[in-house]
Amino acid sequence: MSKDKPLRRSREQQSADVSEAQIAVHWPEEDYFHPSSRFIAQANLVDPGVFERFSLDKFPECFKEFADLLDWYKYWEKTLDTGNPPFWRWYVGGRLNACYNCVDRHLAGHRNKTAIHFVPELEHEVVQHITYQELFVRVNEFAALLRDFCGLKTGDRVTLHMPMVAELPIAMLACARLGVIHSQVFSGFSGKACADRIVDSESRVLITMDAYYRGGKPLDHKEKADIAVAEAAKGGHKVDKVLIWQRHPGRYSSPTKLVEGRDFLVNDVLRTHRGKRVDPVPMPAEAPLFLMYTSGTTGRPKGCQHSTGGYLAYVTWTSKYIQDIHPEDVYWCMADIGWITGHSYIVYGPLALGASSVVYEGLPTYPDAGRPWRIAEDLEVNIFHTSPTAIRALRRDGADEPAKYNHRFKHMTTVGEPIEPEVWKWYHKAVGKGEAVIVDTWWQTETGGFLCSTVPGIHKMKPGSAGPAIPGIHPVIYDDEGKELPAGSGKAGNICIRNPWPGAFQTIWKDPDRFVKQYYSRYCRNPKSKNWRDWPYMAGDGAVHAADGYYRILGRIDDVINVAGHRLGTKEIESAALLVAEVAEAAVVPVTDQIKGKVPDLYVSLKPGLKASNNIASRIMAAVISEIGPIAKPHGVIIVPDMPKTRSGKIMRRVLAAISNHQDPGDVSTLANPEVVDRIKELVK
Ligand code: WT7
Repeated sequence: MSKDKPLRRSREQQSADVSEAQIAVHWPEEDYFHPSSRFIAQANLVDPGVFERFSLDKFPECFKEFADLLDWYKYWEKTLDTGNPPFWRWYVGGRLNACYNCVDRHLAGHRNKTAIHFVPELEHEVVQHITYQELFVRVNEFAALLRDFCGLKTGDRVTLHMPMVAELPIAMLACARLGVIHSQVFSGFSGKACADRIVDSESRVLITMDAYYRGGKPLDHKEKADIAVAEAAKGGHKVDKVLIWQRHPGRYSSPTKLVEGRDFLVNDVLRTHRGKRVDPVPMPAEAPLFLMYTSGTTGRPKGCQHSTGGYLAYVTWTSKYIQDIHPEDVYWCMADIGWITGHSYIVYGPLALGASSVVYEGLPTYPDAGRPWRIAEDLEVNIFHTSPTAIRALRRDGADEPAKYNHRFKHMTTVGEPIEPEVWKWYHKAVGKGEAVIVDTWWQTETGGFLCSTVPGIHKMKPGSAGPAIPGIHPVIYDDEGKELPAGSGKAGNICIRNPWPGAFQTIWKDPDRFVKQYYSRYCRNPKSKNWRDWPYMAGDGAVHAADGYYRILGRIDDVINVAGHRLGTKEIESAALLVAEVAEAAVVPVTDQIKGKVPDLYVSLKPGLKASNNIASRIMAAVISEIGPIAKPHGVIIVPDMPKTRSGKIMRRVLAAISNHQDPGDVSTLANPEVVDRIKELVK
């Protein structure tokens, strides 16, 4: 797309946004909260001069400070290479190893310090405290297994479909040690969704686990591996080996049989690798560290490719200064490592700093809403990180629970979705006991790490607003015509980042065109330009910039629904529904949900002559779950006689969204079939 032809969104999309924006803008501007002097006294960053050091005229050299937090085998020659926009290359010529930085380099000073506290969901199971030394041994042995038993080498891709157990970071770090690119798929995703990612990344090895606990019950996870391998084969791709960790080492906990010659129990194979050590491979800074698939506007998830040097530098710096992690801190991020939050802020950032990071297996509310505070009390967690969805659920199920425990947080993070000021205040008062600072961090899978947040030792907090940009990030809000909306304009626009930054993803795996088109072309000033200033990054979120410089993020401007802080593409759900033979058309719209923020409502129309039935509806529901996973489960499947359509035949999602949210769909007289609207309203009632 070129600059002379700005992509104008259609009217229907615009009106859908307006209602989205209005919901958020209805929050009143809130009063500030101040960080305590006690927090400030110990904070890693209190000098407001940092913003001067990271001003645009110091770009890109200012980012040397980020990379200097790491150990390099070879120092880089060029901080930023902009020769091939927008494929920015950071720390060019440098060599490092991510595993070395997260494990080996801490041994001299912190060998016996806990690196990972693994907390099983079942409360009577003992917590495992894995020291840096143990982590070193386990990562080395598993790396040896990957290299010698699986024949994996630098640049190969491996798919992981692991639950929240210590073996997940161990597997990731073992890959990183070898320069093998890991692609962890959220364990809640179905075997089919896993297969799509195996095929796209061309992984020959799948690493999984037999079972894990969720809501107190053991879940058979191995069965998903069988589906994944079979589905991948249908896609023309063969998986050679499936490595299966055991949730209870030495005991296989899945009813699903092992496939001879393909499936291997890791603990059996590890025996022949005992005591092995694998030298970390010095990787070019630009070598990919991992892929993280995320939903987009098309039905196909995109593999966001993250670099070794830029990514690790970025998550390390932001962990130190925004999460305020000190080596003596016990840090707990309750996200899942299957999402970017877990990669950046459970594994790579905290471990690069030598902190102790908690990995919790299960549901925050299992067996009751006091569980997180018991864990925090027992482990003396002092930094806590979670999503508004989890906070809402904990508040609903146990608003008075935190007061019963002696946990003491100095710092708390919220991430993934806008947080309602009321919920923020409960988090602050009840969970943080009025003492903890809160950072509301806005970022994305693509961005590697935080973009907007207060610096906790410097800024005041404002409930419901993410805060200003972090040092080195320079956002701009454009309207649909590409005009800048100044701070305090009160208008919502598309938030973009003016400058490249080290944590940004390098490309979409095997799809560089989509990378350029989706993130850079809309506001690119000149596609031929080699100047980074002409290539703002478009995040895909609507935002307002307040007069005080704080950003309020309103939500996606595209066909993406943010469910419980995680992205689902409406097209992915719609294509799953279309797999049911009776379905003619499908349309997904977001419905506001008290706990999850948004949930999908799925409208379908059937092929001519077919009658709606519960049986069809439940088969549609099942198709969505088996294609994507329970996370995408529609709030409702509504079989309609016909979709509301424009005269040119476009489905009017705006009208459906209004009906689902019990709002006025507005003027529908211009529809080709206005009479259908009342009939759909009846069905939704
Ligand atoms: C989308 C990214 C960020 C890692 C976890 C989710 C929304 C994220 C916030 C926030 C309001 C937020 C945006 C963004 N989002 N953080 N603090 N306030 N909205 O990563 O799955 O890539 O989703 O989540 O819409 O684009 P993701």
